[in-house]
Amino acid sequence: MSTQTPIPPLRERAAWAALSDHFAEVSTRHLRELFDADATRGERLVAEGAGLFLDYSKNRVTEETIALLLALAEQSGLAERTAAMFAGERINVSEDRAVLHVALRMPQGTTLIVDGRDVVAEVHEVRHRMAALADRIRAGEWLGHTDRPIRNVVNIGIGGSDLGPVMAYEALRHYSARELTMRFVSNVDATDFVEATRDLDPAETMFIVSSKTFTTLETMTNARSARDWSLAALGDESAIAKHFVAVSTNAEKVAEFGIDTANMFGFWEWVGGRYSMDSAIGLSTMIAIGPENFDDMLAGFHAMDEHFRDTPLQRNLPALLGLLAVWYGDFFGAQTVGVMPYEQYLKRFPAYLQQLTMESNGKHVTLQGRHVDYQTGAIFWGEPGTNGQHSFYQLIHQGTKLIPVDLIGFGRSRNPLGDHHDLLMSNVFAQAEALAFGKTEAEVRAEGTAEAVVPHRVMEGNRPTNVILCEELTPYALGTLVALYEHSVFTQGVIWDIDSFDQWGVELGKALAQRIIPELESATEPELAHDSSTNALIRRYRAMRA
Ligand code: F6P
Repeated sequence: MSTQTPIPPLRERAAWAALSDHFAEVSTRHLRELFDADATRGERLVAEGAGLFLDYSKNRVTEETIALLLALAEQSGLAERTAAMFAGERINVSEDRAVLHVALRMPQGTTLIVDGRDVVAEVHEVRHRMAALADRIRAGEWLGHTDRPIRNVVNIGIGGSDLGPVMAYEALRHYSARELTMRFVSNVDATDFVEATRDLDPAETMFIVSSKTFTTLETMTNARSARDWSLAALGDESAIAKHFVAVSTNAEKVAEFGIDTANMFGFWEWVGGRYSMDSAIGLSTMIAIGPENFDDMLAGFHAMDEHFRDTPLQRNLPALLGLLAVWYGDFFGAQTVGVMPYEQYLKRFPAYLQQLTMESNGKHVTLQGRHVDYQTGAIFWGEPGTNGQHSFYQLIHQGTKLIPVDLIGFGRSRNPLGDHHDLLMSNVFAQAEALAFGKTEAEVRAEGTAEAVVPHRVMEGNRPTNVILCEELTPYALGTLVALYEHSVFTQGVIWDIDSFDQWGVELGKALAQRIIPELESATEPELAHDSSTNALIRRYRAMRA
């Protein structure tokens, strides 16, 4: 268990009460008014760190709000909990585990002793083995069973063993070895595997079976199909050693599956699945972009780790982002947060963030196991800009729900082409402006709008945004961006006093599925003892599949 002293329940912290009073006053104020009252607001309510710039001036806050949120962070023990995480204390209390993804990006030569072992040295030892494999594949020197070089790499994994690798591959495609074909299989729906492999030659294909536990139904099912697919073409069990590697914490299960543990890349129980893209789970990323670029990505993660750990809260990007999420969720009652990267390469970033944020903070009890009496994790969602503008932005602009939005933009495109990038970025600034200030009745009338249409064209504004800017989407920048959200999630979890690092909620569905599988597959009519709806659905499915 963590040695941290318990903090008072959220509603009993002085800053929470002060924020509740303060909310009544600030919630009636419009961003137009806040900007009119302070000509320098847009230059002052900003923060910078690890190469990222955050403009949070278009939030429904005053400086008093920020001061109170910072006080809340202090009274919630954010500094102590952060120190505990970095020191390797067992802050994941329900699983009694340390939470040390920050150790995955600590530079070589630094030391962090946990349970008598230098975890940084262990991390770098695995990284060197990963780099040796990546270099051989990239150089065409890793030969398959028939002596042909590996040209296709298929990562099989799900959740944290898939979303990070896919996201990073898409985000850093510009840096990837284009002669290699990278594919990702996650869904137990056979279509995923079949479509991902249909044009691949088994003689040139390597599978990376990525699973922390090496027991996940989807991944093990896909891994078995991959083995059958390879053996059907290569014909010989000895082919497995040249076409399969594993990334896991579970050597026993890896060996049981038939993968030589010499071809296994390990990580540790203190790396949560959704925090693992920079562990050996990132093997596919490293193969795609090369070990040096992978190291740059880790340097970006590390820079944001240091920024988060060492920067005073009022200039601390992840802390500010996390506190603003709490402000909207718990005081304004906002249910969701939109994250819109204005960068096509980040198209899978919202999907990645969904697991990071929602599996982490979708919790209903405190660390002490008491039911919370406040809102916890928001629903995160998003699409790359400008696509979202032509589908769901209407609801953000004129709907009845308050949706805080993060808009992420870059100074330079990886693919400069005419004026595309200026057009793209003009939309970042325009959306933030339109959401904040809208258009008044008077402005609509002044445009000569017919009276009956005036209410339809009024934009109330007062919709909050954060604008996050970065020079260029490099591996380093990607690392900073992911770590920004990791630590924002952590900040929120500390305020809510929840365990952001377990995921018990997904277990029940998995257990029930295990019970239902034989009921679907049995040759004779099974005795069903579920509720009447589940029983009827199983019977109907059995009739349909027959
Ligand atoms: O089902 C949830 C989960 O446990 C995630 O937390 C995890 O990322 C995913 O399953 C995959 O788990 P594994 O890497 O053990 O296959």
